[in-house]
Amino acid sequence: MACYVVGHLHANDASAAYAFHHVHAQANQNLRTRSEDEIREIAENGFMYGARKCSGASIVGDPVGGALVGLCYGFLDEMLGVWELGGLCVDEDIDHDVVWVLAGLALATTIVAGQALEAGLSVVANVVVSNQAPLNLLKGMGFKKRGTFERDGRQLEQYEFGIDGLHRLHHWFDRLRTRPSNGATIAVELVLGWTLDDLQSYLPRYGSFESLGEQQSNARERPEPRRSWTAPSALGALGEQLVRALRRLLSW
Ligand SMILES: CC(C)(COP(=O)(O)OP(=O)(O)OC[C@H]1O[C@@H](n2cnc3c(N)ncnc32)[C@H](O)[C@@H]1OP(=O)(O)O)[C@@H](O)C(=O)NCCC(=O)NCCS
Repeated sequence: MACYVVGHLHANDASAAYAFHHVHAQANQNLRTRSEDEIREIAENGFMYGARKCSGASIVGDPVGGALVGLCYGFLDEMLGVWELGGLCVDEDIDHDVVWVLAGLALATTIVAGQALEAGLSVVANVVVSNQAPLNLLKGMGFKKRGTFERDGRQLEQYEFGIDGLHRLHHWFDRLRTRPSNGATIAVELVLGWTLDDLQSYLPRYGSFESLGEQQSNARERPEPRRSWTAPSALGALGEQLVRALRRLLSW
């Protein structure tokens, strides 16, 4: 049975991430090509996520990830004042469950580690207008079409993750835990020191979760990553003011 390690990638995975991204971006015009420096910076900031085929097991028996078979990243676009969930791409022969696990972990980690919603920033995905491939996934995760714009001569549709998507994301964790055991084995790799519970419990801070029987005031504090990188505060105070001013100008 196939086995995968899915989740957070480390800074020293940057070269492998770039190699994977480069091959797929060359072959598929729907992916925005990122330079090696950009990919490295994203990985160093802690917002690169991947799916790897298992290459063995650790001494305690946990699966260890080998070759990348899927990638996704969170990117703070300071110009637009949004967090972009980008670069989502998987090998064709991958077990399908891996895709929604990868996308869900990338989304939840980016929201929590990037402090996107605290900073008043949207989380978006930009999709080439003719590209249907990610729509099922994005809509299923609670992204809604916000508008179209042009970049590098191409028409893009912007999908925004709304507050109501937080409920779905909260349930996504339950679905992840109760995945039938007869499919591919998927081991989850989170930012060191975090647990799925930490991530899931943090989400209600952002909205009203009465329907889940959980009060916002009971939501947990943001889990602090215990590793060498510290999650960057999304923007400095000045940056935030600038974004708000820009938003007012653009009437977002
Ligand atoms: C984008 C891409 C990763 C999507 O992967 P995909 O496998 O085609 O996505 P699917 O919509 O089939 O979803 C994968 C699985 O997750 C399931 N799924 C989708 N949304 C889900 C959700 N919210 N919750 C649970 N499961 C979900 C689907 O049912 C499917 O499983 P199934 O095949 O057993 O039904 C893939 O098509 C790809 O790599 N495309 C090329 C690059 C690209 O265009 N990237 C997008 C750039 S914006």
